[in-house]
Amino acid sequence: MPSSMRLCETRLTVSKVSKSSSTVVDRLFAEPALAELYDAFCIGRRDFDFYLPLVMSANRVLDVGCGTGELLRLAREAGHTGRLCGLDPAEAMLEQARKREDVEWVLGNLTSVYWDEEFDLVVMTGHAFQVLIEDSVLRESLSAIQSALTDRGCFVFETRNPLAKGWEAWVPENATTIKDGESTVKMSHQVESPITGDTVSFTTTFSSTRWDRPFISRSTLRFLDNDSLSKFLSDAGLVIEEQFGDWDYKPLTNVSPEIITMARRGLSC
Ligand SMILES: C[S@@+](CC[C@H](N)C(=O)[O-])C[C@H]1O[C@@H](n2cnc3c(N)ncnc32)[C@H](O)[C@@H]1O
Repeated sequence: MPSSMRLCETRLTVSKVSKSSSTVVDRLFAEPALAELYDAFCIGRRDFDFYLPLVMSANRVLDVGCGTGELLRLAREAGHTGRLCGLDPAEAMLEQARKREDVEWVLGNLTSVYWDEEFDLVVMTGHAFQVLIEDSVLRESLSAIQSALTDRGCFVFETRNPLAKGWEAWVPENATTIKDGESTVKMSHQVESPITGDTVSFTTTFSSTRWDRPFISRSTLRFLDNDSLSKFLSDAGLVIEEQFGDWDYKPLTNVSPEIITMARRGLSC
């Protein structure tokens, strides 16, 4: 990796931060002890088999809500030689990402940075798109993505299909446990009722004998239906090119768990 691609680029990018970043992130991303465990809870995920080839075939890639930066880390490891940039407002998540110095890591969100036609590909993985709850934030974020993309650049992301009601499985009985050194850590979800509009609020509880008390994090995610999603994208000047319902490229249907969208800036191919 040429050294010119390293930290100096990070500084260049940070200099483009034009507004202050004030995103309050959920405790599960803000708490260093939990951010440290994030990747261990994600082992075996199928979405990276879908995203990694896209990243490898693009020269300049922005990962919005990059978290611990696992996707970009894998891309570098697989020999990506171009520009890889991860953006996230959670210091604790970026702390994990920064263990890799040959990727740009930017603290912030899409309303605190400005990139002008710099990326061939922008991705939002791990359902990071669903943290954009308010219409105004969603519009501003999509507009920032549109501006960050090169002329024929592509935005690829997924959001859970509300018709599949995936949140119904977010119950304590479906808890996941990982082994971390000598101790085990259990993660469980509990949806708060009632579900309001297209948002779902829930708690995530992490418990382990290594801690005096559990960590409890409260989150709200937006479940946009496909018609609303399409409207937000087209209003931002993004044209849907292809959609899938799951990571095996199955077509999107009413029962698909995911709405995986590939959208281009400008006219569709
Ligand atoms: C579920 S994690 C996904 C992380 C990573 N993309 C992955 O695939 O594992 C969601 C990430 O979104 C970040 N996030 C929260 N609010 C955000 C915002 N307004 N803009 C961008 N990212 C945000 C969180 O800090 C967290 O790292």
